[in-house]
Amino acid sequence: MRKIRYQVACSLDGYIADVDGKTGWIVDEPSIDFGALFDQFDTLLMGRRTYEGLVKDADGFWGKTVYVFSKTLRQEEHPQVTVVSGNPQPMLNEMRSMSGKDIWLFGGGELFQSLLALGHVDTVEPAIIPVLLGGGRPLLPSPAIQQALTLTSHRVFPSGIIWLEYTIRKREEASA
Ligand SMILES: NC(=O)c1ccc[n+]([C@@H]2O[C@H](COP(=O)([O-])OP(=O)(O)OC[C@H]3O[C@@H](n4cnc5c(N)ncnc54)[C@H](OP(=O)(O)O)[C@@H]3O)[C@@H](O)[C@H]2O)c1
Repeated sequence: MRKIRYQVACSLDGYIADVDGKTGWIVDEPSIDFGALFDQFDTLLMGRRTYEGLVKDADGFWGKTVYVFSKTLRQEEHPQVTVVSGNPQPMLNEMRSMSGKDIWLFGGGELFQSLLALGHVDTVEPAIIPVLLGGGRPLLPSPAIQQALTLTSHRVFPSGIIWLEYTIRKREEASA
């Protein structure tokens, strides 16, 4: 099964965008190989706000297949992506069972919230940026389910970024 991985840059106080929806506070880290990072994925899942704010004008979407979750976007006005407006369960089940690279849950928090509730997130991989924003768009907005995690990796970078990787604990593991 292909994994769905929520990989995202996050302030220390848990925001993925500031109060203006911007991400200019994400510091540079030259030692992160973004080419290798992008190469782990062939498919991006994103909410409508992330698509409109960060991705819509990207050149060719870095060669990835893009699915945008939205009940308001019209597919015919966005032919370069697939707009997902109905129940995503069948589509996600099929996508995960097909061969391919991992699937990047690109953001934002609202889409993460809904896919987590559906049991369609395998890992949570926040790059903690050394900044406090004091408000903004949360990593996981409420109301959300409570979810236990297992730490599988951590890396500390010279810029002060700490990149964490957690797997989602299955319900039976969490209660054992
Ligand atoms: N720091 C980072 O690495 C990073 C990464 C990505 C994004 N961001 C930032 O995060 C912010 C956006 O995050 P966000 O949490 O506000 O919004 P979001 O998750 O990007 O988008 C929310 C929208 O997605 C649609 N949606 C979500 N779940 C859905 C579902 N199950 N079915 C159908 N549609 C669904 C809805 O669109 P409709 O209203 O059209 O129905 C909803 O209003 C932006 O400011 C962006 O810059 C930061």
